[in-house]
Amino acid sequence: MKWIFCPIDGSVNKENFDCGIHELDDYLKKYAKQNDKKGVAKTFVAIPEEGEKIVAGYYSVSMDKIEFEVIPENYKKGLPRYPLPAMLIGKLAVDKSMQGTGLGNKLLIECFYRAVNLSSEIGIFAVTVAAINEKAKEFYLKYGFIPLVDNEFTLFIPIKTILTVVR
Ligand SMILES: CC(C)(COP(=O)(O)OP(=O)(O)OC[C@H]1O[C@@H](n2cnc3c(N)ncnc32)[C@H](O)[C@@H]1OP(=O)(O)O)[C@@H](O)C(=O)NCCC(=O)NCCS
Repeated sequence: MKWIFCPIDGSVNKENFDCGIHELDDYLKKYAKQNDKKGVAKTFVAIPEEGEKIVAGYYSVSMDKIEFEVIPENYKKGLPRYPLPAMLIGKLAVDKSMQGTGLGNKLLIECFYRAVNLSSEIGIFAVTVAAINEKAKEFYLKYGFIPLVDNEFTLFIPIKTILTVVR
């Protein structure tokens, strides 16, 4: 199946979205568009290239910072001792009907490209993510994300590593 990734707007159908985690479904349906408008977090949705614009997956991103103290010791070398700029993937989810078909992978790679593009204009040390549970964490670990030391469900991946994945 071919997907288009586009900013959330009133033309997409998100009413039946069900990823299996109520909080993520609810966010898409109730808050994603208004937060996008307010500039709190930008949401991008995956819709089929052809046919109805039914949302099959989405992610929301905003800016973040990583406190120097929570970076694992072996990644601290050469870094300044103040908070480091990052791009946060606050939400990422795929509708149950499409899970396991590679869409989660595509959404994450989209996030990586977005971070790489931004990093040519503004300092971004890493991409961070808030994994909602152990299963989600496993998904991110697979791509090289590393847990921060103060919260095992907050992970980061340096832009340097991302560049080896997307280039
Ligand atoms: C986690 C989630 C986004 C993965 O999306 P998906 O479309 O099912 O994943 P994909 O089919 O693209 O799989 C990509 C790779 O990750 C692996 N993978 C998928 N889910 C995984 C999990 N929970 N744990 C470990 N690996 C996982 C797949 O096996 C695949 O690896 P492969 O390329 O070596 O075969 C999706 O299952 C989902 O929306 N879950 C509910 C919401 C959620 O947990 N979101 C996480 C962000 S908080």
